[in-house]
Amino acid sequence: MARVLIVFATRTGETQNIADLIAEGIRFAGHEAQVANVKDIKNESDLDGFDGYVFGSATYHGEMLQGMKTFLFLAEKANLEGKAGGAFGSFGWSGEANDRIFDTMRHILKMDLVGDTLRLKSSSLQGGLQMAQDYGRAIAKKLEG
Ligand SMILES: Cc1cc2nc3c(=O)[nH]c(=O)nc-3n(C[C@H](O)[C@H](O)[C@H](O)COP(=O)(O)O)c2cc1C
Repeated sequence: MARVLIVFATRTGETQNIADLIAEGIRFAGHEAQVANVKDIKNESDLDGFDGYVFGSATYHGEMLQGMKTFLFLAEKANLEGKAGGAFGSFGWSGEANDRIFDTMRHILKMDLVGDTLRLKSSSLQGGLQMAQDYGRAIAKKLEG
């Protein structure tokens, strides 16, 4: 059984809802998922002991939230090279945060990512619940090789 850490940054809770649903998908696939608010990650050792990582932030003013930016610098020190990963976030119309996080995970952290980010306006709209759970399943599949 693999262990996945999901870290989210949110202002009004939507991105946290998506994080919880991704975790469900991972658990449905028989693996362990832990969900953490970026505010509760204090140092790089908090990232120890996981096989996969999924990071997400809402987009505000064309950017990820500051907490996620700071967290990605911390993650740089955690040696996540080659680990399975993905990125997600709630957005209103442009959703830049997802792509910025995904690109950082690929180019700086050198992780082994699933095909794309999960872009959802809300987990409760347009099949969002299913899509978020399916993203968790896709992460699980990546871990199974
Ligand atoms: C002041 C403000 C600025 C925003 N800027 C953007 C933006 O640049 N691009 C975008 O796609 N959504 C933008 N949004 C929409 C949020 O990303 C959206 O409400 C999202 O669901 C919030 O997620 P959260 O509940 O995880 O914080 C903005 C919302 C507010 C209130």
